[in-house]
Parts: sequence; structure tokens; C-alpha cells
Amino acid sequence: ETGDAAKGQPIVDKVCGACHGADGNSTSPIYPNLAGQHPEYINKQLNDFKAGLRKNATMAPNVANLTTQDMLNLAAYFSAQQPKVRMAKDAALVAEGQKIYKGGNPGSGVPACASCHGPTGAGIPVQFPRLAGQHSKYVLSQLKNFRSGDRANDGGKMMQVIARKLTDHEMQAVAEYISGL
Ligand code: HEM
Ligand code: HEM
Repeated sequence: ETGDAAKGQPIVDKVCGACHGADGNSTSPIYPNLAGQHPEYINKQLNDFKAGLRKNATMAPNVANLTTQDMLNLAAYFSAQQPKVRMAKDAALVAEGQKIYKGGNPGSGVPACASCHGPTGAGIPVQFPRLAGQHSKYVLSQLKNFRSGDRANDGGKMMQVIARKLTDHEMQAVAEYISGL
């Protein structure tokens, strides 16, 4: 079960690049960066979209005709791309977000994000995705989707439990911090 990045590239050029960037660095904050993301995670998300476990009206038509091998090839392509270094914008939010990311919120039972996503946001293959440099707007949207249960493809429902303990403000702060990791 290995992917061939060269075979993924033509699909990226024709379909995915328009939103995620030809090199996996998207230009709009509503589309996630895929550059440097772990191949196992990308492959899982594509399969989840196709199976309807992760529901998204924009992604659904893009995965409908992908084969199992296409998905492995696309995962190989995007994971091999170099992520851009990004800067967070709001220093006050970053400081609050850093506390949550590194230490959680003991008062409300939020665990440290770093324990699963790594101290630098690099993630821990194969299960825990890279978050470093991800657009804050996208991160915030996923935290809200986990909280509402709209995103229910997380096997152990780890993120749903965590997101339900975060306030809106904490979500914003941690998303801002992540965007600059
Ligand atoms: C999400 C891959 C085409 C818009 C994702 C994710 C992956 C992915 C792996 C999940 C990222 C994550 O969890 O961090 C692909 C591939 C494509 C493709 C391989 C081509 C076959 C497109 C296109 C668009 C698009 C053409 C825009 C028209 C989105 C959006 C999300 C997303 C909006 C976030 C979905 C959500 O909120 O759950 N894509 N994508 N993608 N993609 Fe694509
Ligand atoms: C996925 C944020 C803590 C396990 C995600 C995603 C975000 C996120 C934004 C989606 C990534 C994407 O779509 O590209 C956070 C934040 C945390 C936190 C802000 C701290 C407040 C944790 C912890 C664990 C964990 C402590 C482990 C116990 C996971 C897993 C996924 C995930 C397994 C992937 C779910 C899937 O397969 O779709 N997290 N996370 N996270 N997180 Fe966390």
C-alpha cells in the first residue's frame, strides 16, 4: 500500500490544485494546506470523504471518482511538498493559544494539544495530523465541526470530546497560535 507521487500530480494539476495549491499550500484560508501532511492522514481523510464519514459538499464530488490507488498517490504527492512558513497575526491571541496548546485548560479538562499533535505541531504519524502553519480560519471551522458533531470521522471521537470543552474564545486563540507554528 504505497503511493506514487508522480501519478498523483496530474490529478492535482487538473482538480485539487485549484483549491489546495499546486504545491499543497493553499492561498485561501478556507482551504486547508496539505503540504507536508502525513500521507496516512491524507489517505484516511480522502477515504472518509468518499465513504461519507466526513461530510463536506465541496470535497464530496472531488473524491467520488478516485480509486483506492489514486488516493494513495495523492497522499504521497501532497505529503512530499514543502510547507510554507507562516506567521500568526494577533499576538494576544497567540499567547493565550500557546497556553492551551502546551498545557490545555486544567480547569475545564482540556488536554494539551501538544500531547497528540506534537510540541511543534508536526503531528505524530500515523494517527495524529500535522497542524503547524494551518490557516486559523480552517482550524477554527474544524474545531466547530467537531464540537457540533458535523465532523464525526474521528474514530475514537477524541476531537469531539475535546472541542466540547473549549470555549469559542479558546478555539480562536488556539487556532491563531497553530497558524504560526
Ligand atoms: C479538505 C484533498 C480537491 C476544497 C481536504 C482534505 C484533503 C483534501 C486531504 C482534508 C484536509 C485535512 O483534514 O487537513 C483534496 C484532493 C483533491 C481536492 C486530493 C483533488 C482530488 C478540492 C477542491 C476543492 C477542495 C477542487 C475546492 C473546490 C476543500 C475544502 C476542504 C477540503 C473546502 C475542507 C473540508 C471540511 O471542512 O471538512 N481536501 N482536495 N478540495 N478540500 Fe480538498
Ligand atoms: C484532528 C486540533 C488535541 C487527536 C485535529 C484537527 C484539529 C485539531 C484542528 C483537524 C486537523 C485537520 O483537519 O487538518 C486540536 C486542538 C487540540 C487538540 C486545538 C487541543 C485543544 C488533541 C488531542 C488528541 C487529538 C489531545 C489526542 C488525544 C486528534 C486526532 C485527529 C485530530 C486523532 C484526527 C481525526 C481524524 O482522523 O479525522 N485536531 N487537537 N487532538 N486530533 Fe486534535
